[in-house]
Amino acid sequence: MSKPSVPASAPTREWWADAVVYQIYPRSFADGNGDGMGDLRGVLDRLPYLERLGVDAIWLSPFYKSPQADGGYDVADYRQVDPLFGALEDFDAMLQEAHRRGLKVIVDLVPNHTSDEHDWFRAALSAPPGSPERDRYIFRPGQDEVPGSGDGNRAPNNWKSIFGGAAWTRVTEADGSAGEWYLHLFDTKQPDLNWENQEVRDEMRSVLRFWLDRGVDGFRVDVAHGMVKEQGLPDWDGVAAMVEGTSEVPREPAPPGDAPGAHTDAEEPHRAVSPVYPPSPFFDQDGVHEIYRDWHRVLSEYGSDRMMVAEAWVEPAERLALYVRQDEMQQAFNFDFLMAGWDAERMAEAVDASLKAAEGVGAPCTWVLSNHDTVRHSTRFGLTDPTTFPKGIAGDDEQPDTALGLARARAATMVELALPGSAYLYQGEELGLPEHTTLPAGARQDPTFFRTQGAETGRDGCRVPLPWAADKPGYGFADSFQGEPAAPWLPQPAEFGPLAADQQDGEEGSTLELYRAALTFRSARHLGTGSLAWAEVNAPDSGLLAFHNRDVLVLANMGFASAPIPEGYSVALSSGPEPVAEWELMHEVPVDCAVYLVRN
Ligand code: GLC
Repeated sequence: MSKPSVPASAPTREWWADAVVYQIYPRSFADGNGDGMGDLRGVLDRLPYLERLGVDAIWLSPFYKSPQADGGYDVADYRQVDPLFGALEDFDAMLQEAHRRGLKVIVDLVPNHTSDEHDWFRAALSAPPGSPERDRYIFRPGQDEVPGSGDGNRAPNNWKSIFGGAAWTRVTEADGSAGEWYLHLFDTKQPDLNWENQEVRDEMRSVLRFWLDRGVDGFRVDVAHGMVKEQGLPDWDGVAAMVEGTSEVPREPAPPGDAPGAHTDAEEPHRAVSPVYPPSPFFDQDGVHEIYRDWHRVLSEYGSDRMMVAEAWVEPAERLALYVRQDEMQQAFNFDFLMAGWDAERMAEAVDASLKAAEGVGAPCTWVLSNHDTVRHSTRFGLTDPTTFPKGIAGDDEQPDTALGLARARAATMVELALPGSAYLYQGEELGLPEHTTLPAGARQDPTFFRTQGAETGRDGCRVPLPWAADKPGYGFADSFQGEPAAPWLPQPAEFGPLAADQQDGEEGSTLELYRAALTFRSARHLGTGSLAWAEVNAPDSGLLAFHNRDVLVLANMGFASAPIPEGYSVALSSGPEPVAEWELMHEVPVDCAVYLVRN
């Protein structure tokens, strides 16, 4: 038998296909200048840490010029670094050093809306209705409170903001009269762009080129399912919740049939339809795909190794797969997996559905458990129901069992890192950080908290500045700064102290060392480019998840009784607290634990 020319273990796909990407939320990662806010200098200083951790790439949440009404997802200038985070030169230096260390760099692109402090929006406000300046956004006259009265006192339609309250704000015209309304699916300070407008399309293409020219390796595309709105902006009575949950409108599954591998016009059919409501007129409109085909062409001008990853809260999985057809984006976040929670059946279903949908279009799957919009998985998994998805946790809500949550989070991460495809980690999860669940209301900054009058606690609890050194002020958030640093922009809980990076470095059994070991194992065994086969002992209905990937057998026990380790296997890595020396003696996987097994 002749040998294959490429060994089975050699990665043959583009770098992102199996990349582990570490998400940096710049405000909270590391503070290089001691002002209490993370910055690009801080990122530069910590690149050795990330290299040592063993990730392949970093994704930076927005660091662009912004009034920070939504943590930077309200961009006032797409080509400038906000002074809070440094300057363009700091970005270039960081990028260069990351590349020197073999780390790819992905930046966030926020194309659905700008800040209301963007030059374009300012120009729109001082221009009259019907002007080209207004046409870059979605301005409409109001409806009359009393039909025919001409008062325009009612919003143009009934859409609600994802962050709470109305999705429309009325402006005052230059002559002081009450004027048109503009659409903002998010905060009032985040006006939606009009993607029917050619200038908007040209500008965003140029923004892509600006960052590609600087050398970035890819883009994480914010609200990738939101840019195109249904013609006529019809009323809609569904409840679109994004970020902390997808549409609450029940949807029917897509019709059977393989998802298409590349685009043809006849193939954008299966918009899931609810028996109760029509699909949302502002999310997942078929028109968004033309934008991604256009961007795909722009990226191709830079060779074949630049990528885009979609943040698209879209269901079912087949619908999400449309975003990663061959001529569109390269990846999409897999929120089904994130939302499955600590539950073997739900997780197995999410894995199956995601792999099938991604394979149908020839795209790699992605896996993620935490990000800057969700309660950290170490905390969610410590709640009475570890499949719940709270919109933040406050002091008077149920508090998690942190030890239990952490044990499960470590196990879930081992599952994530052993699945074929690409994995996204959120800063601090490698330290086992919990959500800050007792932040005082006065410290909160997330607009969702204010727009819902506190009904939604919001996302601040997962955005707390990282602890780098237990004995320093702010747990070393500004560790590399020589001087007395300002307090971190959000207060850190006392439990961050023992979890600081310097406490875990080199400590057997620490979460940091577990992540390092799991990443090393994953890379050495090429698990990211492998494939999944459910094992004979797989029994999700009794809480056991078991699968093979290459020569590794992964067992994760989400049930209520220990699970035997199959004959002929021994433990190569365990998420549990027992020392390495004892793994040899393990015959069972305890509950809330995962192991990587190899043949004896
Ligand atoms: C995305 C971001 C989130 C932001 C929203 C509006 O969901 O992840 O943080 O608030 O878009 O830009």
